[in-house]
Amino acid sequence: MEKIKKALEKYPRARVLDIGTGVGNFISILVSVTSDFQEIVGIDTSRKMLDRAQTNFAAYEFVRFEVADANHLPYNEATFDIICLSNSLHHLDDIIKILKEMKRVLQPNGIIIINEMVKDGLNNAQKSHMMLHHFAAEIDRRMNVVHYETYTKQEIVEHLNGVDGLAIESSWELSFPESEAPTAKDVNNLLYMIDKIMTPTQDFLDKEYFFHKGEEIKTYICKNSYASAPQHIFVLQHS
Ligand SMILES: C[S@@+](CC[C@H](N)C(=O)[O-])C[C@H]1O[C@@H](n2cnc3c(N)ncnc32)[C@H](O)[C@@H]1O
Repeated sequence: MEKIKKALEKYPRARVLDIGTGVGNFISILVSVTSDFQEIVGIDTSRKMLDRAQTNFAAYEFVRFEVADANHLPYNEATFDIICLSNSLHHLDDIIKILKEMKRVLQPNGIIIINEMVKDGLNNAQKSHMMLHHFAAEIDRRMNVVHYETYTKQEIVEHLNGVDGLAIESSWELSFPESEAPTAKDVNNLLYMIDKIMTPTQDFLDKEYFFHKGEEIKTYICKNSYASAPQHIFVLQHS
C-alpha cells in the first residue's frame, strides 16, 4: 500500500477514473491511503454493481458512479490525472482499444494504474482461487458474458505494451495484510459457492462435464485449502 500512496502523492487534488469499478473495491484501496482527491468517478456497465458501490461510498462526497462502457469513455481528452482498472483486464474483449481510450482521457502527465490478479507463480492454496475463478469464467462464457481466464504476469505486460505512446513505468505485487488460513466453515462456504456458481449449468446439454469439473475443484480445495491469488500493479504513463 505504501507504493500506491507514493504514486498518489504526486497528484494532489487528483481527478480519478476507476473503470470496471464493480462495488468499488479498488476505490476502497485508494481512499485508504489518502483522501486528497478532487473527484473519483467509478464506472461500470452493470447498474446493479453501481447501486451497491453507491451505498458503500455514500459518506464520500468526492466519489460518484456512472454507468459507462470502457470501450467508449464519455469524457473529453485529458480529463483525468489517474485512471485505474482493477481485476477487469480479463473481462475485456479488446484490451488495446480500451487502453487507447484510457490514454485519450488521461492528462499528459497523468498515470494509468492497472491492478490484475495473475495465474502464474501460485502456491497450491492460491491455485484453488485460480481454478474456482477460471471455472466461473468458463460458465460465464457459456452464457455469452465476456470473462476470460486470468493472465500470467508476462501476458499482462505484453498487453500493456501494445499501445504506442504508453509505457509501463513501474510494477509491483500488491501486498495485503497476511490473512488467517481458512477455517472449516470458510471452506464449506466455498463449496457452497461452487454449487451456486454451477446453478445455470443445470440447463446445459453437457451439464455432466460441469458437474464433474465442479466436484474436482471441491476435492482440490478440501485437500489444498484456499488463498487469494496475488495481484500485480502496473503503472503506465505517456511515453
Ligand atoms: C471482477 S470485477 C472488478 C471490480 C473491481 N474493479 C475490483 O477490483 O474488485 C469486473 C467489473 O468490470 C465490469 N465491466 C466489464 N466489462 C466492462 C466494460 N466494457 N466497461 C465497464 N465495465 C465493465 C463488470 O461489470 C464488473 O463489475
